[in-house]
Amino acid sequence: MIRFMTAGESHGKALVTIIDNFPSGLKIDEDFINEKLALRQSGYGRGARQKIETDKIEFISGVRGGLTTGSPISFFIKNKDYENWLERMDVYKPVPEDSKIHIPRPGHADFAGSIKYNLDDIRNVLERSSARETASRVAVGAICEILLREFGIEFSSAVLSIGGDIAEADFNLFDEKILNNIKNSDLRIPFPVKERGIKSLIDELKKEGDSAGGVIIVQVKNAPIGLGSFTQWDEKLDAHIAMSMMSIQAIKSVEIGAGVKSGYMRGSDFQDSIYINSGKKYYRKTDNAGGIEGGMSNGEIISVKCAMKPIPTLMKPYLDTVDLRTGEQEKAFLERSDVCAVPAASVVCEAALAYSICLFFLKKFGGDSIVEIIRNYEGYNKQVYS
Ligand SMILES: Cc1cc2nc3c(=O)[nH]c(=O)nc-3n(C[C@H](O)[C@H](O)[C@H](O)COP(=O)(O)O)c2cc1C
Repeated sequence: MIRFMTAGESHGKALVTIIDNFPSGLKIDEDFINEKLALRQSGYGRGARQKIETDKIEFISGVRGGLTTGSPISFFIKNKDYENWLERMDVYKPVPEDSKIHIPRPGHADFAGSIKYNLDDIRNVLERSSARETASRVAVGAICEILLREFGIEFSSAVLSIGGDIAEADFNLFDEKILNNIKNSDLRIPFPVKERGIKSLIDELKKEGDSAGGVIIVQVKNAPIGLGSFTQWDEKLDAHIAMSMMSIQAIKSVEIGAGVKSGYMRGSDFQDSIYINSGKKYYRKTDNAGGIEGGMSNGEIISVKCAMKPIPTLMKPYLDTVDLRTGEQEKAFLERSDVCAVPAASVVCEAALAYSICLFFLKKFGGDSIVEIIRNYEGYNKQVYS
């Protein structure tokens, strides 16, 4: 079954990724992958790092003549910033004592990570736990999207809220007007009237050395009926989506469809009644289940919401912490940081959803080549719709 693994430090030479068991014969659209990488780097509220990096994918293996070969796909994404960190990130040279970090930043992996791995320099934790790693995941998601596009499956993501306002969430992200609004907004919000207010909030937070989180929505349309299974707990599509999303740095909650709101609704309001049209196409008039029932896609739009906590690094020393070497009470140190990365995180969430859908799509229709998958997919559609 398809799987992937990433390696690499935030200020190391590069991020490295391996995707295993990916089918042969898919035409790789490198521009599409690089566009997604650029989108992850953009967004109002990002820090100086994004001006240094211009992420580009460089394939090492598994792609030949522009097509996947069926062998493991590997690629790297270079860290341009490495040049500025040669002294501190060298593989062999001893780490300069005065550059070591002993004070964990609350909200990061610093505290538990340095204790767990018995490290005397917190940089060993923060370099790997950093959201720089999400560049790899965006590239993996883009490759999955390229495969799923062949079957008419499309993804869209947006930012619903930044810094506290409660946002309307029951809409279709594939509506042309909404798609355009998202494309034209450097906050990736679907409602332009909110743009000015959110930007001034971000400016204000930046001045105060504070930060913001927000709420993200991701949707996928044309996912066939029956991805995932009710037969075993870890075969459920919604369970996998939750894992994919929760594994993203700073994501603190995942909702499918009406999510938390469903707990406040009546059964007669919540359940999505089933209809059929003359072309034997099933449809629903509501989508409170978010396109998943019994752990399986039901053919409706799969809709996922995620909450991102406020960025934990603050540019003013607000947060109390402890020096792990001396045991003295201290203030958290300041590492270059974003004020708000919700637009970027929405791109990461889309990639994570693409991976989950691709995994279950290949479980259902899988084969070693695209030709074989198309055969399986067409056979299934014939069975369902004729
Ligand atoms: C796209 C993206 C960018 C991020 N940028 C920063 C940042 O600049 N500064 C920061 O302190 N945290 C940033 N974070 C969040 C931290 O990486 C994250 O909170 C931390 O690793 C701890 O993980 P946890 O919040 O999942 O517990 C970012 C997260 C994402 C998804």
